[in-house]
Amino acid sequence: MDTPLSRFSLRLAYATNQLPRLAWYAGHDVVFRRLATRARETGRSRRPPAQSSVPAPGERRIYADMFNLLQQDLANVEAGIYPLPHDRDGSLATRLYRSRLFFDDLAEVHERRERNDFREVRNEETRGRRPDYYLQNFHFQSGGWLTEDSADRYDTQVEVLFKGTANAMRRQALPPLHEHFTGRDQRKLRLLDLGCGTGRFLDLVKQAWPRLPSFGLDLSDAYVHHARRHLRRRVRLNLIVANAEAIPLPAASMDAVTSIFTMHELPPGVRRTVIGEAARVLKPGGRLVLLDSLQRGDVPDYDGLLERFPQNYHEPYYKSYVTEDFAALAVRCGLVHRRNVTAFVSKVMVFDKPS
Ligand SMILES: C[S@@+](CC[C@H](N)C(=O)[O-])C[C@H]1O[C@@H](n2cnc3c(N)ncnc32)[C@H](O)[C@@H]1O
Repeated sequence: MDTPLSRFSLRLAYATNQLPRLAWYAGHDVVFRRLATRARETGRSRRPPAQSSVPAPGERRIYADMFNLLQQDLANVEAGIYPLPHDRDGSLATRLYRSRLFFDDLAEVHERRERNDFREVRNEETRGRRPDYYLQNFHFQSGGWLTEDSADRYDTQVEVLFKGTANAMRRQALPPLHEHFTGRDQRKLRLLDLGCGTGRFLDLVKQAWPRLPSFGLDLSDAYVHHARRHLRRRVRLNLIVANAEAIPLPAASMDAVTSIFTMHELPPGVRRTVIGEAARVLKPGGRLVLLDSLQRGDVPDYDGLLERFPQNYHEPYYKSYVTEDFAALAVRCGLVHRRNVTAFVSKVMVFDKPS
């Protein structure tokens, strides 16, 4: 029953879950920025600070937009679109361990950034076993996508980058799924998440639809291994190491395909192939939901931030991503573009395969 007291309890529970988390990751971000400033002041950083020719939002605007995102997240919970979220960052010991992994790696990331070296992971052992575009130290991170340490560090890196709002943004891909699944028996549907990484989005999917048969696919053994551990208690879940350019699943077998924060990591030609594959495995009437960074012009005040972002992090395909016409691309793959919704620094793009 929806009473003022039950609404108050829900809001309190939401705040109790989310605020300490934001403080934890925003605190990491503050320390990270101080270290970067000190590196510049002491001459250990010779790279000029990232610049943009167009305006970028100030801190106040960023915090206001983070607040709007959290309000939307809570409104979705109150509307019954998904349950009160559990971000499952692990015990204090786990969080401290991951925090140490994050800070311990900063010096190496810094050195790689200074040398503009992103080819470390392309070596005798890896060459030919993964596509060349994949064998890079994305974000200058140690191990690229290839090592267990990288997988254990990844979620802290992403949450620090977004000051603790990465999962809240990921959850904004759930409303179009809710709309698509409403009135249907979740046990008879199938969802596939492309580039599932460490499984954080699938965790959110499973919180909303525990009995929904779900598949996760990623090209990294290490990230899929981490996802299996993180999601070990979930049922009806199948995690596959494979290339999203050639999904090893039958045509017309999925009711929904999702891909979160992955499109900007792919070269333009690969992006097209992957969306074509998503369209192939969708059933007629099925839905594709992409969630990734804002694109240029979505929120013009943020364009400067989008321009600066790839100057600090090794993001070789981001520049092409921010101008990609996903609606036109999807149409060429036989999909219909339904809508885009922005959420802080992310956007959700919804496409349907005609029945
Ligand atoms: C930025 S991470 C996003 C991970 C996750 N979806 C999330 O929400 O954080 C990009 C992921 O895409 C995966 N990836 C990149 N290219 C791929 C490909 N061709 N096929 C499958 N996975 C790929 C990487 O291994 C990595 O786990």
